Amino acid sequence: LETLVLVGFMGAGKTSQARSVAAELNARPVDSDAVLEERLGMPIEDWFSRHGERAFREHEESVVVELLENPTAPVISLGGGAVTSERVQQALRRHTVIWLDVDSDAAWQRAGGRRPLARDRQRFDELLEARRPLYESLADAVVPATRRENLRAAIPYIRSLPAGARMAWAEAASGSYPVLVGEGLLHSGYWPLDGPRFTVTDETVGALYDVGDTRIPPGEQAKTLATAEAVLRAMAAAGLDRSGHVSAVGGGVVGDLAGFCAAVYQRGIPVVQVPTTLVSQVDSAYGGKTGVDLPEGKNYAGVYHQPTAVIVDPAALRTLPAEELGAGWAEVVKTALIAGGALWRRVSATDPMCAIDRDLVFSCALTKLAVVASDERDDGRRQSLNLGHTIGHAIETATGYARYRHGEAVGLGLLAALSLSEQHALRAEVAGLLAARGLPVTLDGEVDRDAVFAAISRDKKRRGGPVPFVLVDGPGRVEPGCVVPDDAVRAALEELAGP
Ligand SMILES: NC(=O)c1ccc[n+]([C@@H]2O[C@H](COP(=O)([O-])OP(=O)(O)OC[C@H]3O[C@@H](n4cnc5c(N)ncnc54)[C@H](O)[C@@H]3O)[C@@H](O)[C@H]2O)c1
Repeated sequence: LETLVLVGFMGAGKTSQARSVAAELNARPVDSDAVLEERLGMPIEDWFSRHGERAFREHEESVVVELLENPTAPVISLGGGAVTSERVQQALRRHTVIWLDVDSDAAWQRAGGRRPLARDRQRFDELLEARRPLYESLADAVVPATRRENLRAAIPYIRSLPAGARMAWAEAASGSYPVLVGEGLLHSGYWPLDGPRFTVTDETVGALYDVGDTRIPPGEQAKTLATAEAVLRAMAAAGLDRSGHVSAVGGGVVGDLAGFCAAVYQRGIPVVQVPTTLVSQVDSAYGGKTGVDLPEGKNYAGVYHQPTAVIVDPAALRTLPAEELGAGWAEVVKTALIAGGALWRRVSATDPMCAIDRDLVFSCALTKLAVVASDERDDGRRQSLNLGHTIGHAIETATGYARYRHGEAVGLGLLAALSLSEQHALRAEVAGLLAARGLPVTLDGEVDRDAVFAAISRDKKRRGGPVPFVLVDGPGRVEPGCVVPDDAVRAALEELAGP
C-alpha cells in the first residue's frame, strides 16, 4: 500500500490530522519534525535560530528523504518547508500526497509568533502564497484544513483514487463532496455511489459516449421548465425512487438541468455531476447552483443542490468542437483573473500558450471550490464568480440565447467589466487571450445595445437596489458588489461594439 503523506503550510494541522487518519488504520503516524527534533537533540526553533534556515533545510532533507524511501508508517506528515527540496519532491512521487490547504488567517492563528518563519504577518502571508503552487503541484489530493471531518471523509476516496486521477475535497454549507479529475475516468468504470443510477445527457454527448437513460436536445435553448418536466417524467417512468440518484453527463446545460431535476424529484435525490465541456469542467459542475431559464431571464428558476460527487474526465474535451473549447476558455480566463498568482501566470502565458489539460482543469476547480467554500463565512465572495456575467448574461438574454454561446458572452462580459474597472492594459491583454482561442472580442453590430442594457437592469442579482457589478483591480484582486453609473455601463457597451 502506498503511504499517505500529508503536506501543507505550518498551522494546517498536519501532525494531529495524521494522528487521526493513522488511528483509523490502527497505526501510528510518523511526523518528520518529531524525527528531526530527536536527531537534532533540541526543539527545531532553537536549532533553527542557532544555525539558520539553510543548515536546517539540509538536515530536514536527509531525514525526510530517508522517511519517504523507507516508510515505517502508513501515514507521514511533513514539516511545511520540507517540500521545497527537489529530492523530497522526487521521493514524494511514489506516494499519495495530500495537501492540507489552510488559509492565511487560520494558519496565523495557530502558528503566528510560535515558529521561526511566523514572526511577521506580511512575510508569513507571502511565504504561504509562494508555497501554494508548490503544494498544489505535488498533491494527489487537496483537502481544506478547516475541519477535521474533511480529511476523514476524503480518505476513502483518496485510498481508492484511480491511477492518474487527482482529488479535491469540496466544502459547502449543505454538504461536502469529492471532485475527481483524471484522464479516462468516464470509461474507467469508477463510480462513487451505490444504488440505481439514472443518467441524463444530451443527444450529442449521448451518441458520442453511448450513455443516457434520457437525452435532451443539445444547447441552451433546451434549458427550460418544459425539458425539466420531460426529464422528471422519464425518471418517474423508470421507477426511480429515493434510493436512486441522477448522473448528469454533459455540459453546463445538462448539469444545471439534471441537477435541478435531482433537487426537486421526490423532494431531492443525489446528483453526480460528470461535466464534459470545458465550461462545466472548470466552473459550472461545482458549487451546487442548478436551474433552468425562463424567457424573461437566464437561470430564473432554480435551486441550490450540491452534487454528491463530481467526476471530471479531461479526455472528453477531445471531442469538443473548437468553438465550445473557446467558450470554456473564457471561463478559464475569468477563473484565472479571480485567482491571480500562479494560475493567472499560467493562463496568460502566450509563448507557448497554456495547455488545456488535467492540471489546468484541476487548478480552476480548486479556485471555484475555494470561493464557494469561503462564502459560508458569508463575506459575499461567491459573487466574485459573477465577474463578466452581469453583462454576459444580459447579452445572452437580449439575443434570445441564440446568438452567442454562454462562454462567448462571458468573454464579452469580461471585457466590458474590465472597461468599467478602467483596466485598459489588462483589457487589451484579456482580449488577446480570448481572440487567440477564436473568441469574439467585439459585440456584433446587429445586437441591440438598448436591449442588453435593459436586460442588465433586470439582472436577478438585483435586490431592490442597483445592479451590482464585479470590478477588477488586477489579477487576483476582484471586488464584488460595485455600483456603477448607467452612463459608464452604456459606454462599456459602446466600447464593446467597437468603432
Ligand atoms: N451552475 C453554475 O454554476 C454555472 C456556471 C457557469 C455556467 N453555467 C451554465 O452552463 C451552461 C453552459 O454550459 P456549456 O458551455 O457546457 O454548454 P452546453 O451544455 O450547451 O454544451 C455545449 C455543447 O457541447 C456539446 N458537448 C458537450 N460535451 C461534449 C463533448 N465532450 N464532446 C462534444 N460535444 C460536447 C453539447 O452537446 C452542446 O451542444 C449555461 O446554461 C450556463 O448558464 C452554470
